[in-house]
Amino acid sequence: MKKRVVSILLSTMVVAGLFAGCGTSGDDSSSASSSDTKTEAPAEDKADDAKEASDTATTGGNVVGVVMPTKDLQRWNQDGQNMEQQLKDAGYEVDIQYSNNDIATQVSQIETMISNGVNVLVIASIDGESLGTPLEKAKEAGIPVISYDRLIMNSDAISYYATFDNYMVGQKQGEYIKEALDLENAEGPFNLEIVTGDPGDNNAQFFYGGAMDVLQPYIDSGKLVVPSGQIEFAKVATADWSTEKAQNRMDTIISGNYSDGTNLDAVLCSNDSTSLGVQNALASSYTGEYPVITGQDCDVANVKNLIAGKQSMDIFKDTRDLANQTVKMVDAIMQGKEAEVNDTESYDNGTGVIPTYLCEPKVCTADNYKELLIDSGYYTEEDLK
Ligand code: BGC
Repeated sequence: MKKRVVSILLSTMVVAGLFAGCGTSGDDSSSASSSDTKTEAPAEDKADDAKEASDTATTGGNVVGVVMPTKDLQRWNQDGQNMEQQLKDAGYEVDIQYSNNDIATQVSQIETMISNGVNVLVIASIDGESLGTPLEKAKEAGIPVISYDRLIMNSDAISYYATFDNYMVGQKQGEYIKEALDLENAEGPFNLEIVTGDPGDNNAQFFYGGAMDVLQPYIDSGKLVVPSGQIEFAKVATADWSTEKAQNRMDTIISGNYSDGTNLDAVLCSNDSTSLGVQNALASSYTGEYPVITGQDCDVANVKNLIAGKQSMDIFKDTRDLANQTVKMVDAIMQGKEAEVNDTESYDNGTGVIPTYLCEPKVCTADNYKELLIDSGYYTEEDLK
């Protein structure tokens, strides 16, 4: 394997810290269907490389640097708290930073952690394409990197990826709309609008792809109609996953297409922050029958709306499970072992497939939220009042 030979050569020249091989950093923006394998390493090689990283990381110290994108959205606070707690419980020292959704801040936090000599980095990126340079430094310093929830693209410094099954998230949202409108049997046509996430977040492509694989056939057959005409990913993306931007776009869609009393039957929203924006827009300017609306994350505000009938479904991603799997990866790395993964095919970051652990997302509705969220201790009844 060319990549392996180059890797071995370089590692003798530089330091034992070159653990993740030398895949090219092309402009290939990976998505659910990425299949460009020109210069990429197969997943087995990545796993070997990760093992080399593990070997490098066992040279003393037990500090884990954790970088989360923002405190603005509920989920990342939860992720951060879970990670910190579980890492501390496992005996690690934790340096945790939140990047205020600002790429430059995130880069500088990572650089500081590298120069402080953390042993492992766990990073949830803001923009998956923006961390190449700082992570080169991590690689040179022999610091293994775990990509957390969002895949870091075009960097050969990534040892592992821990996330939820992002394609399945979208698929479940699409299936929910399909069932709720009874697309198989009802005559239709039904009106649909689509609101997805930040184009710099690789997950957004997976959510969109999973949902559209379910819904596109009905759009093609005419049973689903998108009156705004906005269907392509680029047209339905929401920068920064911003509630306000989703709301503004939905306001415009409503005034341009639904102000004459036309019914909107469903809105595919990739997550809760965008779903809230859509719900706000509907509350302020829509007069027709209330549509089916999806979401993701089970943020408190959205679960309250789920109970109140303003959001039809949510996707529950138990961030405690994700933290647990990530801590297991950290443990494996620190002990010089290979970490447990369950997907070695789906997540190509442009330098090869990254060995991945996928946690399972679950559909949450007004009917099962108590069991999923309260009985499991994720929230208390009080939290949702
Ligand atoms: C996460 C979602 C989240 C979104 C916005 C995505 O990368 O997977 O759970 O809603 O970012 O923060």
